[in-house]
Amino acid sequence: MATPVIAFDIYGTLIDPHGVVVELEQLIGERAREFSRRWRDKQLEYTFRRGLMRQYVDFSICTRQALDYCDTVLGTHLSEADKQRLLQRYASLPAFADVDSGLSALQQAGVRMVAFSNGTAAGVNGLLEQAGIRDRFSDIISVDEIGSYKPDPAVYQHCLARTGAAAASCWLVSANPFDILGAAAVGMPTAWVRRDPGVAFDPWEARPTASIEQLTDLISVVQNHG
Ligand code: LAC
Repeated sequence: MATPVIAFDIYGTLIDPHGVVVELEQLIGERAREFSRRWRDKQLEYTFRRGLMRQYVDFSICTRQALDYCDTVLGTHLSEADKQRLLQRYASLPAFADVDSGLSALQQAGVRMVAFSNGTAAGVNGLLEQAGIRDRFSDIISVDEIGSYKPDPAVYQHCLARTGAAAASCWLVSANPFDILGAAAVGMPTAWVRRDPGVAFDPWEARPTASIEQLTDLISVVQNHG
């Protein structure tokens, strides 16, 4: 088996999109968690719809439009300054606690790692820099390079083309089940990071190659595979 490459999803897998709850609590109090959850769901829905409609705009626009939608539907009356503050926080979200040690073990074992995200390369680069983990990755691959979104098979093919890896030796690691299913559909092995016990894996035809609770468990999965 060829030396594996690991493509890491970013939002929800390495970086916590709900890190914005701290700012939201200051603005809207106890509705912060619900707002954050709906904002993230709507942001992803917009990416799915734009992918299907072939009306690509970059991820920051999906995020901004989802924020406006949630503000309207939840009646929170955020000012433009409040929204700018939330979006600024979105550009410097924290990494999950297990990320640094998980990536460090993989790097020491010589595994090649790339970031692979719906976010733009510049946006993801900034996030990884802020979180202090940019150096773990040899490359940042963005769907923006081809103007579509996960789980369009074209974006996973693009990831494979950019890494130069065969599908069977390029892992996709993600906490997002739709992302795991998208990668599995093009033949990539997958590891689902089960960060949220409230999320069930979609009961479709495919299953993840492995399910892990935290990133520190990934090294043994990759080393023992195949
Ligand atoms: C990403 C989305 C799925 O980082 O959150 O690609």
